[in-house]
Amino acid sequence: MKWLAFVCCCALLTIGAVSSQWVFAQDASPTAPVMDTAKLMKVFADPAMETIKGAIKEVPATPKGWRVIQDQGEAVAEIANLTMMREGDHEKAPEWDQLADAMKKAGLALAESAGKKDFADVQAKVTAVIASCNECHKKFEPDTAPEILP
Ligand code: HEC
Repeated sequence: MKWLAFVCCCALLTIGAVSSQWVFAQDASPTAPVMDTAKLMKVFADPAMETIKGAIKEVPATPKGWRVIQDQGEAVAEIANLTMMREGDHEKAPEWDQLADAMKKAGLALAESAGKKDFADVQAKVTAVIASCNECHKKFEPDTAPEILP
């Protein structure tokens, strides 16, 4: 019967090793957020917005000029995805994902409009992106989050 006890021990050890690895993988997810929301905004959202504002000062004269707006619209949408992945008290609220999703849709709408090279519509879509930023700022940090200006 000794061999049976040995086999059982091996089986238990294997299960233990596999499950502890699984638990570890859960804790240290490779996609765990690195920055908090304030830093994500400062490092990604703010520069994207500044690039967009600079790019729509005049009607883009080259395909590259339109492409910049299109790319940055998509960047805003991607930053909204990252915003949804943050963790914290605000970030747990159901409105958080809704407001971030509004930012994502506004960014995608801007990208689509830039793809069509419709300048008046691009300007309107930028206004909508800015509104999506400010709506979340007013909701969660009315005293400290910046008001994004056109
Ligand atoms: C889903 C919510 C949400 C959306 C959408 C959002 N923000 Fe923010 N943002 C915040 C919060 C919350 C803070 C304040 C964080 C703090 O003070 O701890 C913030 C702070 C900022 C800051 C200040 C960062 C710093 O500390 O220097 C900037 C700049 C900023 N946001 C830009 C933007 C721009 C531009 C957009 C839109 C393109 C945007 N945000 C959309 C939630 C949001």
